[in-house]
Amino acid sequence: MSFSIHRIESPKPTDNLLILANSRDLLWAKKYLTTTEQAYLTHAAEQAINYVFFPKGTQGILVHFVELRGNVIDQKEANRRAGNEIISAVTHYRIDVLTILNKSGQNHLTEYVEGMVLGGYQFTKYLSGKDDTFRGAKTINLLAREIAPLALEQLEAVLCATYKARDLVNEPQSYLTAVKLGEEIEALGKAYGFQVETLDKAKIQALKMGGLLAVNKGSFAPPRFSVLEWKHPEAKNAKPVVLVGKGVVFDTGGINLKPTQGSLDMMKCDMAGAATVIGAMVAVAKAKLPIHLIALVPATDNRLGNEAYLPGDVITMYDGTTVEVLNTDAEGRLILADALHYAKKYDPELVLDFATLTGAAVRSLGQHAICYMGTADKKVKTNLENSGNQVYERLVEFPLWKEYGNALKSNIADLKNIGGPTAGQITAGKFLQHFTDYPWLHFDIAGPAFLRAADSYRNKEGTGVGVRLIFEFLRKY
Ligand code: BES
Ligand code: ZN
Ligand code: ZN
Repeated sequence: MSFSIHRIESPKPTDNLLILANSRDLLWAKKYLTTTEQAYLTHAAEQAINYVFFPKGTQGILVHFVELRGNVIDQKEANRRAGNEIISAVTHYRIDVLTILNKSGQNHLTEYVEGMVLGGYQFTKYLSGKDDTFRGAKTINLLAREIAPLALEQLEAVLCATYKARDLVNEPQSYLTAVKLGEEIEALGKAYGFQVETLDKAKIQALKMGGLLAVNKGSFAPPRFSVLEWKHPEAKNAKPVVLVGKGVVFDTGGINLKPTQGSLDMMKCDMAGAATVIGAMVAVAKAKLPIHLIALVPATDNRLGNEAYLPGDVITMYDGTTVEVLNTDAEGRLILADALHYAKKYDPELVLDFATLTGAAVRSLGQHAICYMGTADKKVKTNLENSGNQVYERLVEFPLWKEYGNALKSNIADLKNIGGPTAGQITAGKFLQHFTDYPWLHFDIAGPAFLRAADSYRNKEGTGVGVRLIFEFLRKY
Protein backbone atom coordinates (compact mmCIF):
# COMPACT_ATOMS: atom_id res chain seq x y z
CA MET A 1 0.00 0.00 0.00
CA SER A 2 1.45 3.32 -1.01
CA PHE A 3 -0.26 5.80 1.26
CA SER A 4 -0.19 6.36 4.99
CA ILE A 5 -2.49 8.36 7.22
CA HIS A 6 -1.37 9.91 10.51
CA ARG A 7 -2.79 12.17 13.14
CA ILE A 8 -0.39 14.95 14.12
CA GLU A 9 -0.43 17.66 16.80
CA SER A 10 1.29 20.44 14.87
CA PRO A 11 2.52 20.76 11.29
CA LYS A 12 6.16 21.25 10.34
CA PRO A 13 6.75 24.69 8.83
CA THR A 14 7.63 23.01 5.54
CA ASP A 15 4.49 20.87 5.33
CA ASN A 16 2.07 21.60 2.56
CA LEU A 17 -1.27 22.47 4.06
CA LEU A 18 -4.64 21.51 2.70
CA ILE A 19 -7.32 23.53 4.39
CA LEU A 20 -10.86 22.26 4.16
CA ALA A 21 -13.22 25.23 4.20
CA ASN A 22 -16.69 26.33 3.27
CA SER A 23 -17.18 29.37 1.11
CA ARG A 24 -19.29 31.22 3.68
CA ASP A 25 -16.82 31.36 6.55
CA LEU A 26 -13.30 32.55 5.77
CA LEU A 27 -12.35 34.10 9.13
CA TRP A 28 -9.68 31.45 9.75
CA ALA A 29 -7.77 32.68 6.66
CA LYS A 30 -6.23 35.63 8.55
CA LYS A 31 -3.85 33.26 10.26
CA TYR A 32 -2.58 31.59 7.08
CA LEU A 33 -2.91 34.03 4.16
CA THR A 34 -1.80 37.58 3.34
CA THR A 35 -4.44 40.26 2.82
CA THR A 36 -4.10 39.96 -0.95
CA GLU A 37 -4.45 36.19 -0.76
CA GLN A 38 -7.49 36.52 1.48
CA ALA A 39 -9.10 38.86 -1.03
CA TYR A 40 -8.41 36.37 -3.78
CA LEU A 41 -9.88 33.57 -1.70
CA THR A 42 -13.06 35.58 -1.13
CA HIS A 43 -13.25 36.20 -4.85
CA ALA A 44 -12.78 32.47 -5.55
CA ALA A 45 -15.52 31.62 -3.06
CA GLU A 46 -17.90 34.02 -4.81
CA GLN A 47 -17.03 32.58 -8.20
CA ALA A 48 -17.77 29.05 -6.93
CA ILE A 49 -14.20 27.96 -7.67
CA ASN A 50 -13.67 24.71 -5.77
CA TYR A 51 -10.04 25.02 -4.73
CA VAL A 52 -7.18 27.50 -4.75
CA PHE A 53 -3.45 26.85 -4.37
CA PHE A 54 -1.24 29.49 -2.76
CA PRO A 55 2.47 28.76 -3.31
CA LYS A 56 4.47 29.94 -0.30
CA GLY A 57 8.09 29.06 -0.89
CA THR A 58 8.64 25.53 0.32
CA GLN A 59 5.19 25.38 1.85
CA GLY A 60 2.06 25.64 -0.24
CA ILE A 61 -1.46 26.18 1.01
CA LEU A 62 -4.30 24.53 -0.82
CA VAL A 63 -7.78 25.67 0.18
CA HIS A 64 -10.64 23.38 -0.75
CA PHE A 65 -14.25 24.42 -0.38
CA VAL A 66 -16.62 21.68 0.72
CA GLU A 67 -20.11 23.01 1.17
CA LEU A 68 -22.27 22.27 4.18
CA ARG A 69 -25.08 19.79 3.66
CA GLY A 70 -28.27 19.38 5.59
CA ASN A 71 -27.66 15.86 6.87
CA VAL A 72 -24.79 13.63 7.92
CA ILE A 73 -25.16 11.04 5.17
CA ASP A 74 -25.10 13.64 2.38
CA GLN A 75 -22.26 15.52 4.07
CA LYS A 76 -20.13 12.39 4.33
CA GLU A 77 -20.69 11.58 0.67
CA ALA A 78 -20.00 15.20 -0.37
CA ASN A 79 -16.72 14.96 1.54
CA ARG A 80 -15.74 11.69 -0.14
CA ARG A 81 -16.45 13.21 -3.54
CA ALA A 82 -14.49 16.32 -2.59
CA GLY A 83 -11.58 14.16 -1.45
CA ASN A 84 -11.59 12.53 -4.85
CA GLU A 85 -11.71 15.93 -6.54
CA ILE A 86 -8.55 17.11 -4.81
CA ILE A 87 -6.53 14.02 -5.66
CA SER A 88 -5.67 15.07 -9.21
CA ALA A 89 -4.86 18.60 -8.03
CA VAL A 90 -2.43 17.20 -5.49
CA THR A 91 -0.78 15.01 -8.10
CA HIS A 92 -0.52 18.04 -10.38
CA TYR A 93 1.31 20.05 -7.71
CA ARG A 94 3.55 17.08 -6.87
CA ILE A 95 2.86 17.17 -3.14
CA ASP A 96 4.27 14.19 -1.23
CA VAL A 97 3.38 15.16 2.31
CA LEU A 98 0.05 16.77 2.90
CA THR A 99 -1.22 18.07 6.21
CA ILE A 100 -4.95 18.53 6.32
CA LEU A 101 -6.66 21.07 8.50
CA ASN A 102 -10.41 21.22 8.88
CA LYS A 103 -11.95 24.71 8.94
CA SER A 104 -15.11 23.70 7.14
CA GLY A 105 -17.57 23.76 10.01
CA GLN A 106 -18.37 20.05 9.80
CA ASN A 107 -16.42 17.18 11.29
CA HIS A 108 -16.35 14.47 8.62
CA LEU A 109 -12.69 14.72 7.76
CA THR A 110 -12.19 10.94 7.69
CA GLU A 111 -14.67 10.67 4.81
CA TYR A 112 -12.71 13.31 2.92
CA VAL A 113 -9.56 11.23 3.35
CA GLU A 114 -11.52 8.14 2.34
CA GLY A 115 -12.49 9.86 -0.92
CA MET A 116 -8.89 10.93 -1.51
CA VAL A 117 -7.48 7.46 -1.03
CA LEU A 118 -10.23 5.61 -2.91
CA GLY A 119 -10.20 8.16 -5.72
CA GLY A 120 -6.42 7.88 -5.97
CA TYR A 121 -6.50 4.14 -6.60
CA GLN A 122 -5.07 2.85 -9.85
CA PHE A 123 -4.41 -0.69 -11.07
CA THR A 124 -0.91 -0.41 -12.47
CA LYS A 125 0.28 -4.01 -12.51
CA TYR A 126 0.21 -4.29 -16.30
CA LEU A 127 1.23 -0.72 -17.13
CA SER A 128 4.83 -0.29 -18.24
CA GLY A 129 6.74 2.21 -16.14
CA LYS A 130 4.04 2.68 -13.51
CA ASP A 131 4.01 0.80 -10.29
CA ASP A 132 2.30 2.85 -7.66
CA THR A 133 -1.28 1.93 -6.86
CA PHE A 134 -1.96 5.32 -5.25
CA ARG A 135 -1.49 8.53 -7.19
CA GLY A 136 -1.95 11.02 -4.36
CA ALA A 137 0.27 12.38 -1.60
CA LYS A 138 2.18 9.51 -0.03
CA THR A 139 1.77 10.81 3.50
CA ILE A 140 -1.48 12.27 4.69
CA ASN A 141 -1.32 14.02 8.08
CA LEU A 142 -4.46 15.06 9.84
CA LEU A 143 -4.23 18.00 12.17
CA ALA A 144 -7.30 16.88 14.04
CA ARG A 145 -7.35 16.12 17.75
CA GLU A 146 -11.02 15.15 17.58
CA ILE A 147 -10.34 12.05 15.46
CA ALA A 148 -9.74 9.02 17.69
CA PRO A 149 -6.67 6.90 16.82
CA LEU A 150 -8.99 3.89 16.59
CA ALA A 151 -11.06 5.62 13.90
CA LEU A 152 -7.91 6.18 11.84
CA GLU A 153 -6.75 2.59 12.28
CA GLN A 154 -10.14 1.37 11.11
CA LEU A 155 -10.10 3.78 8.20
CA GLU A 156 -6.71 2.52 7.08
CA ALA A 157 -7.86 -1.08 7.45
CA VAL A 158 -10.96 -0.66 5.34
CA LEU A 159 -9.20 1.39 2.67
CA CYS A 160 -6.39 -1.11 2.36
CA ALA A 161 -8.99 -3.90 2.14
CA THR A 162 -10.94 -2.07 -0.56
CA TYR A 163 -7.70 -1.73 -2.54
CA LYS A 164 -7.17 -5.49 -2.25
CA ALA A 165 -10.72 -6.21 -3.40
CA ARG A 166 -10.33 -3.85 -6.38
CA ASP A 167 -7.01 -5.44 -7.33
CA LEU A 168 -8.60 -8.90 -7.32
CA VAL A 169 -11.52 -7.81 -9.51
CA ASN A 170 -9.21 -5.99 -11.92
CA GLU A 171 -6.98 -9.02 -12.38
CA PRO A 172 -7.84 -10.71 -15.65
CA GLN A 173 -8.51 -14.43 -15.78
CA SER A 174 -5.18 -14.89 -17.63
CA TYR A 175 -3.66 -14.46 -14.17
CA LEU A 176 -6.49 -15.08 -11.75
CA THR A 177 -7.64 -18.65 -12.27
CA ALA A 178 -9.58 -20.33 -9.47
CA VAL A 179 -6.32 -21.94 -8.31
CA LYS A 180 -4.56 -18.57 -8.26
CA LEU A 181 -7.46 -17.03 -6.36
CA GLY A 182 -7.00 -19.72 -3.71
CA GLU A 183 -3.30 -18.86 -3.50
CA GLU A 184 -4.02 -15.14 -3.29
CA ILE A 185 -6.40 -15.81 -0.39
CA GLU A 186 -3.73 -17.85 1.39
CA ALA A 187 -1.19 -15.06 0.95
CA LEU A 188 -3.66 -12.52 2.36
CA GLY A 189 -4.35 -14.81 5.31
CA LYS A 190 -0.63 -14.91 6.11
CA ALA A 191 -0.25 -11.15 5.69
CA TYR A 192 -3.25 -10.15 7.82
CA GLY A 193 -3.48 -13.00 10.29
CA PHE A 194 -6.63 -14.94 9.40
CA GLN A 195 -6.77 -18.71 8.89
CA VAL A 196 -7.24 -20.15 5.40
CA GLU A 197 -8.04 -23.66 4.29
CA THR A 198 -8.38 -24.23 0.56
CA LEU A 199 -10.14 -27.37 -0.66
CA ASP A 200 -8.79 -28.75 -3.94
CA LYS A 201 -10.75 -30.62 -6.60
CA ALA A 202 -10.28 -34.05 -4.97
CA LYS A 203 -11.72 -32.72 -1.71
CA ILE A 204 -14.55 -30.95 -3.52
CA GLN A 205 -15.33 -34.23 -5.32
CA ALA A 206 -15.19 -36.20 -2.08
CA LEU A 207 -17.70 -33.77 -0.56
CA LYS A 208 -19.88 -34.09 -3.70
CA MET A 209 -20.26 -30.36 -4.30
CA GLY A 210 -22.26 -31.02 -7.45
CA GLY A 211 -23.01 -27.37 -8.24
CA LEU A 212 -19.39 -26.23 -8.18
CA LEU A 213 -18.22 -29.34 -10.04
CA ALA A 214 -20.86 -28.97 -12.78
CA VAL A 215 -19.92 -25.35 -13.50
CA ASN A 216 -16.25 -26.33 -13.54
CA LYS A 217 -16.69 -29.16 -16.05
CA GLY A 218 -15.91 -27.04 -19.12
CA SER A 219 -12.69 -25.71 -17.67
CA PHE A 220 -9.06 -26.79 -17.99
CA ALA A 221 -8.41 -25.35 -14.54
CA PRO A 222 -9.64 -27.10 -11.38
CA PRO A 223 -12.03 -25.44 -8.92
CA ARG A 224 -11.20 -24.29 -5.43
CA PHE A 225 -13.25 -23.81 -2.29
CA SER A 226 -11.59 -21.54 0.25
CA VAL A 227 -12.54 -21.24 3.90
CA LEU A 228 -11.31 -18.10 5.66
CA GLU A 229 -11.64 -17.67 9.41
CA TRP A 230 -11.03 -14.84 11.84
CA LYS A 231 -11.73 -15.69 15.46
CA HIS A 232 -10.85 -13.02 17.98
CA PRO A 233 -10.24 -14.46 21.49
CA GLU A 234 -12.82 -12.03 22.84
CA ALA A 235 -15.32 -12.47 20.04
CA LYS A 236 -18.67 -10.90 20.92
CA ASN A 237 -20.68 -13.45 18.94
CA ALA A 238 -20.90 -17.04 20.23
CA LYS A 239 -22.00 -18.34 16.83
CA PRO A 240 -20.07 -17.13 13.78
CA VAL A 241 -21.15 -14.73 11.10
CA VAL A 242 -20.49 -16.37 7.72
CA LEU A 243 -19.82 -14.51 4.48
CA VAL A 244 -20.13 -16.22 1.10
CA GLY A 245 -18.77 -14.75 -2.14
CA LYS A 246 -19.32 -15.81 -5.75
CA GLY A 247 -15.91 -16.60 -7.23
CA VAL A 248 -16.54 -17.10 -10.94
CA VAL A 249 -13.17 -15.92 -12.23
CA PHE A 250 -14.61 -15.63 -15.73
CA ASP A 251 -18.17 -16.16 -16.91
CA THR A 252 -18.45 -16.92 -20.64
CA GLY A 253 -21.99 -18.13 -20.02
CA GLY A 254 -20.88 -21.65 -20.92
CA ILE A 255 -22.84 -23.30 -23.77
CA ASN A 256 -25.42 -20.53 -23.30
CA LEU A 257 -22.61 -18.25 -24.45
CA LYS A 258 -22.97 -14.58 -23.64
CA PRO A 259 -23.16 -12.23 -26.61
CA THR A 260 -19.87 -10.49 -27.41
CA GLN A 261 -21.63 -7.12 -27.47
CA GLY A 262 -22.19 -5.90 -23.96
CA SER A 263 -21.38 -8.07 -21.05
CA LEU A 264 -18.79 -10.64 -22.12
CA ASP A 265 -15.80 -8.28 -22.11
CA MET A 266 -16.30 -7.42 -18.45
CA MET A 267 -16.89 -10.91 -17.10
CA LYS A 268 -13.58 -11.07 -15.25
CA CYS A 269 -15.67 -9.15 -12.70
CA ASP A 270 -17.75 -12.23 -11.90
CA MET A 271 -15.65 -12.96 -8.84
CA ALA A 272 -16.42 -9.53 -7.35
CA GLY A 273 -18.55 -11.14 -4.62
CA ALA A 274 -15.52 -13.21 -3.64
CA ALA A 275 -13.35 -10.09 -3.69
CA THR A 276 -15.86 -8.36 -1.43
CA VAL A 277 -15.86 -11.04 1.25
CA ILE A 278 -12.08 -11.48 1.02
CA GLY A 279 -11.71 -7.70 1.38
CA ALA A 280 -14.07 -7.71 4.37
CA MET A 281 -11.95 -10.42 5.99
CA VAL A 282 -8.78 -8.38 5.39
CA ALA A 283 -10.38 -5.29 6.95
CA VAL A 284 -11.69 -7.18 9.98
CA ALA A 285 -8.37 -8.95 10.62
CA LYS A 286 -6.28 -5.82 10.05
CA ALA A 287 -8.51 -3.86 12.45
CA LYS A 288 -8.65 -6.86 14.83
CA LEU A 289 -12.39 -6.57 15.36
CA PRO A 290 -13.60 -8.65 18.33
CA ILE A 291 -15.80 -11.02 16.34
CA HIS A 292 -15.88 -14.53 14.94
CA LEU A 293 -16.11 -14.33 11.16
CA ILE A 294 -15.91 -16.99 8.47
CA ALA A 295 -15.84 -16.45 4.71
CA LEU A 296 -16.48 -19.10 2.06
CA VAL A 297 -15.30 -18.69 -1.52
CA PRO A 298 -16.31 -21.27 -4.13
CA ALA A 299 -14.23 -20.55 -7.24
CA THR A 300 -14.16 -21.68 -10.86
CA ASP A 301 -14.51 -20.23 -14.32
CA ASN A 302 -17.57 -20.93 -16.45
CA ARG A 303 -16.63 -21.77 -19.99
CA LEU A 304 -17.19 -23.98 -23.00
CA GLY A 305 -15.32 -27.23 -23.42
CA ASN A 306 -15.82 -30.83 -24.45
CA GLU A 307 -16.83 -31.73 -20.95
CA ALA A 308 -18.93 -28.63 -20.27
CA TYR A 309 -22.33 -29.10 -18.67
CA LEU A 310 -25.25 -28.70 -21.04
CA PRO A 311 -28.71 -27.14 -20.89
CA GLY A 312 -31.06 -29.88 -19.77
CA ASP A 313 -28.53 -31.65 -17.60
CA VAL A 314 -29.70 -32.71 -14.18
CA ILE A 315 -27.12 -32.31 -11.44
CA THR A 316 -27.11 -33.29 -7.78
CA MET A 317 -26.10 -30.50 -5.45
CA TYR A 318 -23.96 -30.81 -2.29
CA ASP A 319 -27.11 -30.94 -0.14
CA GLY A 320 -28.70 -33.67 -2.33
CA THR A 321 -31.16 -31.40 -4.17
CA THR A 322 -31.45 -32.24 -7.88
CA VAL A 323 -31.36 -29.30 -10.29
CA GLU A 324 -32.31 -29.19 -13.95
CA VAL A 325 -29.83 -26.80 -15.54
CA LEU A 326 -31.81 -24.99 -18.21
CA ASN A 327 -29.26 -22.23 -18.70
CA THR A 328 -25.53 -22.69 -18.14
CA ASP A 329 -25.19 -18.93 -17.70
CA ALA A 330 -27.12 -19.13 -14.41
CA GLU A 331 -24.01 -20.67 -12.85
CA GLY A 332 -23.45 -18.37 -9.89
CA ARG A 333 -26.40 -19.72 -7.94
CA LEU A 334 -25.10 -23.29 -8.41
CA ILE A 335 -21.74 -22.62 -6.79
CA LEU A 336 -23.25 -20.36 -4.11
CA ALA A 337 -25.83 -23.00 -3.21
CA ASP A 338 -23.08 -25.48 -2.35
CA ALA A 339 -21.33 -22.88 -0.22
CA LEU A 340 -24.59 -21.97 1.53
CA HIS A 341 -25.10 -25.63 2.37
CA TYR A 342 -21.51 -25.86 3.64
CA ALA A 343 -22.22 -22.88 5.93
CA LYS A 344 -24.77 -24.96 7.90
CA LYS A 345 -21.98 -26.85 9.65
CA TYR A 346 -21.05 -23.69 11.59
CA ASP A 347 -24.57 -23.23 13.01
CA PRO A 348 -24.17 -19.58 11.98
CA GLU A 349 -25.80 -16.61 13.63
CA LEU A 350 -26.06 -14.88 10.27
CA VAL A 351 -24.98 -15.61 6.68
CA LEU A 352 -24.43 -12.85 4.12
CA ASP A 353 -23.71 -13.76 0.51
CA PHE A 354 -22.32 -11.38 -2.11
CA ALA A 355 -22.52 -12.04 -5.83
CA THR A 356 -22.60 -10.47 -9.27
CA LEU A 357 -25.59 -12.69 -9.79
CA THR A 358 -28.07 -11.27 -12.29
CA GLY A 359 -28.51 -8.86 -15.14
CA ALA A 360 -31.96 -8.27 -13.64
CA ALA A 361 -30.33 -6.59 -10.63
CA VAL A 362 -28.49 -4.25 -13.00
CA ARG A 363 -31.67 -3.49 -14.92
CA SER A 364 -33.66 -2.75 -11.78
CA LEU A 365 -31.23 -0.49 -9.88
CA GLY A 366 -28.26 0.23 -12.13
CA GLN A 367 -24.92 0.98 -10.53
CA HIS A 368 -26.11 3.09 -7.62
CA ALA A 369 -27.49 0.45 -5.28
CA ILE A 370 -27.23 -3.14 -4.18
CA CYS A 371 -30.29 -5.41 -4.49
CA TYR A 372 -30.73 -7.39 -1.33
CA MET A 373 -33.20 -9.87 0.11
CA GLY A 374 -33.32 -12.61 2.69
CA THR A 375 -34.63 -14.14 5.87
CA ALA A 376 -32.65 -12.38 8.60
CA ASP A 377 -34.81 -10.43 11.01
CA LYS A 378 -35.89 -6.83 10.64
CA LYS A 379 -33.29 -5.51 13.08
CA VAL A 380 -30.39 -6.98 11.10
CA LYS A 381 -31.84 -5.56 7.89
CA THR A 382 -32.25 -2.12 9.45
CA ASN A 383 -28.68 -2.17 10.75
CA LEU A 384 -27.35 -3.16 7.35
CA GLU A 385 -29.40 -0.52 5.57
CA ASN A 386 -28.10 2.09 8.01
CA SER A 387 -24.52 0.92 7.47
CA GLY A 388 -25.13 1.10 3.73
CA ASN A 389 -26.31 4.70 4.03
CA GLN A 390 -23.35 5.69 6.21
CA VAL A 391 -20.80 4.41 3.67
CA TYR A 392 -23.03 5.26 0.69
CA GLU A 393 -23.27 1.68 -0.53
CA ARG A 394 -27.01 1.79 -0.40
CA LEU A 395 -29.32 -1.20 -0.19
CA VAL A 396 -32.74 -1.78 -1.67
CA GLU A 397 -34.70 -4.76 -0.42
CA PHE A 398 -36.66 -7.06 -2.72
CA PRO A 399 -39.33 -9.51 -1.52
CA LEU A 400 -38.84 -13.27 -1.35
CA TRP A 401 -42.55 -14.07 -1.46
CA LYS A 402 -43.27 -17.73 -2.01
CA GLU A 403 -45.04 -17.05 -5.32
CA TYR A 404 -41.69 -16.11 -6.88
CA GLY A 405 -40.47 -19.60 -6.09
CA ASN A 406 -43.07 -21.15 -8.41
CA ALA A 407 -40.95 -20.10 -11.39
CA LEU A 408 -38.26 -22.57 -10.28
CA LYS A 409 -40.43 -25.69 -10.51
CA SER A 410 -39.05 -28.36 -12.80
CA ASN A 411 -40.87 -31.35 -14.30
CA ILE A 412 -37.99 -33.72 -13.83
CA ALA A 413 -35.93 -32.41 -10.87
CA ASP A 414 -36.43 -30.72 -7.50
CA LEU A 415 -35.61 -27.28 -8.98
CA LYS A 416 -34.58 -25.69 -12.23
CA ASN A 417 -31.83 -23.11 -12.24
CA ILE A 418 -33.71 -20.30 -14.00
CA GLY A 419 -37.01 -18.56 -13.40
CA GLY A 420 -39.16 -16.72 -15.92
CA PRO A 421 -38.39 -13.59 -17.93
CA THR A 422 -39.19 -11.18 -15.08
CA ALA A 423 -37.84 -10.48 -11.57
CA GLY A 424 -34.69 -12.48 -12.24
CA GLN A 425 -32.87 -11.12 -9.21
CA ILE A 426 -35.68 -12.43 -6.99
CA THR A 427 -35.97 -15.88 -8.55
CA ALA A 428 -32.18 -16.18 -8.17
CA GLY A 429 -32.66 -15.28 -4.50
CA LYS A 430 -35.43 -17.87 -4.16
CA PHE A 431 -33.08 -20.48 -5.60
CA LEU A 432 -30.43 -19.63 -3.00
CA GLN A 433 -32.96 -19.58 -0.17
CA HIS A 434 -33.66 -23.27 -0.79
CA PHE A 435 -30.14 -24.05 0.49
CA THR A 436 -30.34 -22.05 3.73
CA ASP A 437 -31.79 -22.90 7.12
CA TYR A 438 -30.36 -19.96 9.13
CA PRO A 439 -30.84 -16.17 9.14
CA TRP A 440 -29.53 -15.15 5.75
CA LEU A 441 -29.25 -12.21 3.38
CA HIS A 442 -28.27 -12.19 -0.26
CA PHE A 443 -26.64 -9.15 -1.90
CA ASP A 444 -26.71 -8.95 -5.69
CA ILE A 445 -23.88 -6.52 -6.54
CA ALA A 446 -23.95 -7.00 -10.33
CA GLY A 447 -24.72 -3.27 -10.81
CA PRO A 448 -22.18 -1.45 -8.61
CA ALA A 449 -19.30 -3.99 -8.62
CA PHE A 450 -17.73 -2.99 -11.92
CA LEU A 451 -18.03 0.36 -13.66
CA ARG A 452 -17.23 1.19 -17.25
CA ALA A 453 -16.52 4.81 -16.30
CA ALA A 454 -15.43 6.21 -12.95
CA ASP A 455 -18.08 7.74 -10.73
CA SER A 456 -15.96 10.02 -8.53
CA TYR A 457 -14.02 7.90 -5.99
CA ARG A 458 -15.69 4.76 -7.34
CA ASN A 459 -13.07 4.16 -9.95
CA LYS A 460 -13.48 2.53 -13.32
CA GLU A 461 -13.60 -1.32 -13.33
CA GLY A 462 -13.59 -3.08 -9.92
CA THR A 463 -15.00 -0.81 -7.20
CA GLY A 464 -14.60 -3.06 -4.17
CA VAL A 465 -18.27 -2.44 -3.36
CA GLY A 466 -19.46 -4.17 -0.21
CA VAL A 467 -16.18 -4.10 1.70
CA ARG A 468 -17.01 -0.81 3.40
CA LEU A 469 -20.60 -1.92 3.94
CA ILE A 470 -19.66 -5.18 5.67
CA PHE A 471 -16.94 -3.53 7.73
CA GLU A 472 -19.26 -0.74 8.89
CA PHE A 473 -21.89 -3.33 9.86
CA LEU A 474 -19.42 -5.57 11.72
CA ARG A 475 -17.65 -2.67 13.40
CA LYS A 476 -20.92 -1.93 15.19
CA TYR A 477 -21.91 -5.56 15.60
N1 BES B 1 -22.51 -13.15 -14.10
C1 BES B 1 -23.82 -13.01 -14.58
C2 BES B 1 -24.56 -11.79 -14.04
C3 BES B 1 -23.98 -10.43 -14.34
C4 BES B 1 -24.58 -9.61 -15.28
C5 BES B 1 -22.90 -9.95 -13.64
C6 BES B 1 -24.07 -8.36 -15.52
C7 BES B 1 -22.41 -8.68 -13.89
C8 BES B 1 -22.99 -7.88 -14.82
C9 BES B 1 -24.65 -14.24 -14.22
O1 BES B 1 -23.95 -15.42 -14.08
C10 BES B 1 -25.63 -14.45 -15.32
O2 BES B 1 -25.22 -14.68 -16.41
N2 BES B 1 -26.91 -14.36 -15.00
C11 BES B 1 -27.95 -14.57 -15.96
C12 BES B 1 -28.97 -15.49 -15.37
C13 BES B 1 -30.04 -15.93 -16.34
C14 BES B 1 -29.47 -16.84 -17.38
C15 BES B 1 -31.14 -16.62 -15.58
C16 BES B 1 -28.59 -13.22 -16.27
O3 BES B 1 -28.84 -12.47 -15.33
O4 BES B 1 -28.80 -12.93 -17.44
ZN1 ZN C 1 -23.62 -16.43 -15.93
ZN1 ZN D 1 -21.95 -15.23 -13.51
